[in-house]
Amino acid sequence: MTPSSVSDIFFYLQFAISEYILTVTVKERVCSATPSIGGSDMLNLSGKTAFVFGVASEDSIAWAICKMLAESGVTLYLGYQKRFRSRVFQLKDKLPQIGGFYPLDVAQDATTKEFFDAFSADNPGKKADILIHAIGFAPRTCFDRPILFVEDQDINTAMTISANSLQRCLKFALPYLNPNSSTITLTYAASNRYVPSYGIMSMAKAALECWTRELACHLGPEGHRVNAISSGPIRTIAASGIPGFDNILDHVEKNSPLRRNVNQDDVAGATLWLASPLSSGVTGQCIYVDAGYSITMVPETIMTN
Ligand SMILES: NC(=O)c1ccc[n+]([C@@H]2O[C@H](COP(=O)([O-])OP(=O)(O)OC[C@H]3O[C@@H](n4cnc5c(N)ncnc54)[C@H](O)[C@@H]3O)[C@@H](O)[C@H]2O)c1
Repeated sequence: MTPSSVSDIFFYLQFAISEYILTVTVKERVCSATPSIGGSDMLNLSGKTAFVFGVASEDSIAWAICKMLAESGVTLYLGYQKRFRSRVFQLKDKLPQIGGFYPLDVAQDATTKEFFDAFSADNPGKKADILIHAIGFAPRTCFDRPILFVEDQDINTAMTISANSLQRCLKFALPYLNPNSSTITLTYAASNRYVPSYGIMSMAKAALECWTRELACHLGPEGHRVNAISSGPIRTIAASGIPGFDNILDHVEKNSPLRRNVNQDDVAGATLWLASPLSSGVTGQCIYVDAGYSITMVPETIMTN
């Protein structure tokens, strides 16, 4: 045997051993990190707890999410904005699965922390498995002038509340989240395509989707998942602030592949899936629930007119 073939064999052996160690280690890591999937009760989420942020009225997408989570056995803790207190309290008795309501204003750290302080004081040791972030806001002045002239402070408000608040909520939620938790936020297609009138909110949604990816990567090693649902247009309080919103509804109804608009339940269904172990391998994604509108480029009608 020549010296070079001895070193070749030695090199080959070293390579084979390290490959073996790598395969075993990766296998072990994947196996221990992957929650088991299967069984008939995948959407039976009894025993699970959710924080739901963004209920303002019965029309809120977050309220449809509450109803669907409750039907699956989830106990709900709602964070409400003080200005919607009376509306939200009227809804309280409609869902016995609501464990508590606490004020939440994501504009500042202190007012966000208030929610978690109140939750933990009432429910010592309790943790949640699901976090719904269905929060969006931009001041009126973001929409009543050309985008070039929107003031810094209004842009900052829209970005803080509609995008950066996902990070703020998760920062304070983390000590109260069980392993393998699922966070779902709501976004809109104006994040990556021009939609007339959506203005500063387009930037906010783009940032929100970026936060979703960043936070998914940051929290993924501990098993936490973070995803966004990009909803088609739905008539709600937040949507009523978008000029020309009804025209968008009309256009989508005529031109989406499903020839309809989505409703709150369509979004709630996808949210339930993302909250459940059925989606255990999905994180950092933006899932479109928009009757397929986002895959189209030009309406069918231009071919016939
Ligand atoms: N309705 C649509 O067409 C549509 C489409 C795509 C995405 N979305 C998104 O869905 C989410 C929910 O909106 P919606 O349409 O159900 O309207 P909505 O008005 O019912 O909900 C918006 C929620 O944001 C909350 N919020 C605003 N500022 C807050 C603050 N400082 N602190 C805490 N909460 C605050 C409000 O209290 C309200 O509950 C928003 O992020 C919105 O941008 C809506």
